[in-house]
Amino acid sequence: MLLCPSPPRWLDQALGDLDTLLLDHAHCERRAASTVLGFSFRAPEMEFAGQMSRLAREELTHFEMALRELRRRNLPFVALPPAAYAQRLATGMRKKVLDEAMVDSLVVAGIIEARSHERLVLLEAACADPHLKAFYAALVESEERHAAQMFALAERWGDPAPRIAFFAAQEAEIITAGEDVVRMHS
Ligand SMILES: [Fe+2]
Ligand SMILES: [Fe+2]
Repeated sequence: MLLCPSPPRWLDQALGDLDTLLLDHAHCERRAASTVLGFSFRAPEMEFAGQMSRLAREELTHFEMALRELRRRNLPFVALPPAAYAQRLATGMRKKVLDEAMVDSLVVAGIIEARSHERLVLLEAACADPHLKAFYAALVESEERHAAQMFALAERWGDPAPRIAFFAAQEAEIITAGEDVVRMHS
């Protein structure tokens, strides 16, 4: 559903500063856990809450895996400003009506997961460090599954198809423009 591949510029940036990429990646995984947990507060039905809890635990496992990679490279886990990507992607999200807000939030989260998956595949193929390669390979399946799961869950609150089209077009513009900083989603 992504409308454009990552530009070669991004992979060059990423491979040129894998330490910063890894630090940002750790933050992304922890943010992903927090985001899905936040969904369950907005729609606190039992089945959905359970699904979000499992998802949050999985993202926290990814966070801990990223922390292990940081430790292995003797890097500290410190604050790092996020890419502008997620905030830009959230432009146009409907917030007033709960059903619309849930569809849009889940669709945006699904698109972020889909882009993560696309980039993990690129990193796994391009990375020379065998530890990092294995780390990226271990995450590929999850993030692909998460993207599909988010879009499927969105159907409980409405028809996600037009919103996927809207946010995917917006995402392609953001990705094509790129950012100067090295981030998972720059
Ligand atoms: Fe993850
Ligand atoms: Fe994920």
